[in-house]
Amino acid sequence: MAVKYNEYGELTMGGTSLKTLAQSFGTPAFVYDEDEIRNQMRRYHEAFRKSGLKYNISYASKAFTCLQMVKLVDEEDLQLDVVSEGELYTALAAGFDPSRIHFHGNNKTKREIQYALENHVGYIVIDALEEIDLINKYASEPVDVVVRLNPGVEAHTHEFIQTGQEDSKFGLSIKHGLAKEAIEAINDKEKLNLKGVHFHIGSQIEGTEAMIETAKLVLQWLKDNNIEVELLNLGGGFGIKYVDGDTSFPIEEGIAEITSAIKETAESLDYPVPEIGVEPGRSIVGEAGVTLYEVGTIKEIPGVNKYVSVDGGMSDHIRTALYDADYEALLVNREEEADETVTVAGKLCESGDIIVREAKLPSSVQRGDYLAILSTGAYHYSMASNYNQMQKPPVFFMKDGKAREVIKRQSLRQLIINDTK
Ligand code: LLP
Repeated sequence: MAVKYNEYGELTMGGTSLKTLAQSFGTPAFVYDEDEIRNQMRRYHEAFRKSGLKYNISYASKAFTCLQMVKLVDEEDLQLDVVSEGELYTALAAGFDPSRIHFHGNNKTKREIQYALENHVGYIVIDALEEIDLINKYASEPVDVVVRLNPGVEAHTHEFIQTGQEDSKFGLSIKHGLAKEAIEAINDKEKLNLKGVHFHIGSQIEGTEAMIETAKLVLQWLKDNNIEVELLNLGGGFGIKYVDGDTSFPIEEGIAEITSAIKETAESLDYPVPEIGVEPGRSIVGEAGVTLYEVGTIKEIPGVNKYVSVDGGMSDHIRTALYDADYEALLVNREEEADETVTVAGKLCESGDIIVREAKLPSSVQRGDYLAILSTGAYHYSMASNYNQMQKPPVFFMKDGKAREVIKRQSLRQLIINDTK
């Protein structure tokens, strides 16, 4: 866990009191434990290194990106997965080596394809037949491409369904012949070099079964169709712990199981063991980040519920409203027994603006207290909006007892900067 209480009963991260941080910089604020982010990246590296196979780990920018995050990815020697002109722009602005960037997206615009090509990204992931002609047309020199397959497999948190995801805007269906057609078309194009195949079977996946079964299915398909590729990219989706009962993807054992299953399958098929790619986003940053809020209005409806409202909401925390996601809230400025179940609500003008539906908190919580919502490092800042003209919160990286501001709080002026007078 990224946070713990110190001897004075204050919640801390990386040796710093979060109460002091909240008092100095205001709330809402996103705070990350930098060592924890780095540690997750190192764990993936170490696990793959042990497998002895060729590998690449790409951080999925969409989980959380900014210049300093990209620099950290660079320092830890990961590659980068981007899905838009904006994510690519951010990576390039941070000085990231374009040859280590992969460009994804189910509807890349003409401009995005040109931008990716001009900057010589490592490879482009083909997600539709039309892209093959477009990339070939705009490329001035040979370009590596990877085909995103739709293997007809879906992984839910606990279950794994084959033929589950046929009806999807992502990827090229194996079963319906689109994947084969794409590969033949790529092989016909002079400027396109088929580097590999890719799949991504879902998010917040527990265990390794779904990924292993899909990898086996794909290897069998490659073998049956006489398609030889150097890269098999398994996508992202590795789960994290949001609340008690969730388990984080066990990186060491998980990667060991996946890599040995792929190696065995390839060898038994007499297929060259491919380089293995993964694209974790959530499991790199998710548990390393928390959101700090200040408590305002408390409303108790006798016999019904108690609402503890905070100074942010669905503009910086959309996942509860969007996915009915669960979170844990901790009182920041006092360590006390959590003896009450309350609803932590945001301040935006919607009943659905809830942060934690059933939060266990001390009954003493009052106006002016600070709360930390745990495991908000992934898909929070990146999914933040200006709904209700709320300002996006600042982001801090904590390390060695110091807070480093990596994104400033949006100013009121910035809210109207693009408005014409
Ligand atoms: N690679 C591809 C091709 C993806 O589509 C995604 C996520 C990832 C990698 C990274 O997946 P991760 O390891 O972070 O699970 N907004 C949702 C998550 C959407 C994920 C979309 N694709 C959420 O808040 O849960």
